Amino acid sequence: MKLLENKVVIVTGAGQGIGRALAKGLAAEGAKVVVAELNGENGARVAKDIEAAGGTALAVRTDVSSESSVNAMVSETLRAYKNIDVLINDAAVFPASSVAEMKNEEWDQVLRTNLTGTFFCARAVMPTMKQNRAGRIINFTSGRALAGSAHGAHYAASKGGIISFTKSLALELAPHGITVNSICPGAIDTPQPKAHVKSEEEFYAKAKKIPLRRVGQPEDLVGPALFLASHWSEYVTGQMIVVNGGSIMW
Ligand SMILES: NC(=O)c1ccc[n+]([C@@H]2O[C@H](COP(=O)([O-])OP(=O)(O)OC[C@H]3O[C@@H](n4cnc5c(N)ncnc54)[C@H](O)[C@@H]3O)[C@@H](O)[C@H]2O)c1
Repeated sequence: MKLLENKVVIVTGAGQGIGRALAKGLAAEGAKVVVAELNGENGARVAKDIEAAGGTALAVRTDVSSESSVNAMVSETLRAYKNIDVLINDAAVFPASSVAEMKNEEWDQVLRTNLTGTFFCARAVMPTMKQNRAGRIINFTSGRALAGSAHGAHYAASKGGIISFTKSLALELAPHGITVNSICPGAIDTPQPKAHVKSEEEFYAKAKKIPLRRVGQPEDLVGPALFLASHWSEYVTGQMIVVNGGSIMW
């Protein structure tokens, strides 16, 4: 039997990057995956790829920054698969701006998507998980939450908020048998961090400073997510797994 056989897993932001790798990796372990993605075309492509590989997936166009969109996605999940076992909050945005020049709208959009989106999604799956007296919520934070970001104070603040939110929700949901943990990636080879450097070379040059001598690949996050989503992490809650090749040891 596969590790996540018949488990229903929602992955937000699964249209590309880390979320796409997680959706495919968890589907390969038997999960029924809901690809909750703002970019409808990308989301549909990922669900189609999973089905073509013999897995089960449903693409639901979702804007995590909108509570009604999140609630509609959760209703569609329950209609299709009758249950929710795991939520992975991966969707995020990371525009670059100094605080001095940051538009209020940009600050709001980053906090609303990254932090409030995590809150909306978590709250929407809680009734089902409470009924089951079981469930897993996995939130994506970032090394920027711990080290800061010279051109992304909004992003760093949103990701710091996710760490605190994770711990608080873990305390709230522990009596219900639901665990809440976070994953903190370092530099991972996806479109998001590459938008912050002048060239591909500059991005890959980061490897020189990483003890494991390479930047991470989206697939490097699959193992930690599988662990937190499966029965192997039953006694783990309120924790953060750092996946950064050893670049910063917390
Ligand atoms: N790539 C890295 O180096 C890195 C490092 C640290 C943390 N992270 C975190 O890992 C997660 C995934 O990062 P990534 O690099 O794969 O990002 P990415 O930008 O490649 O993918 C993010 C996905 O989220 C989707 N999305 C954006 N806004 C949305 C919304 N409102 N509703 C639904 N979906 C939305 C995007 O369309 C995109 O498909 C993020 O939470 C990110 O902050 C990434």
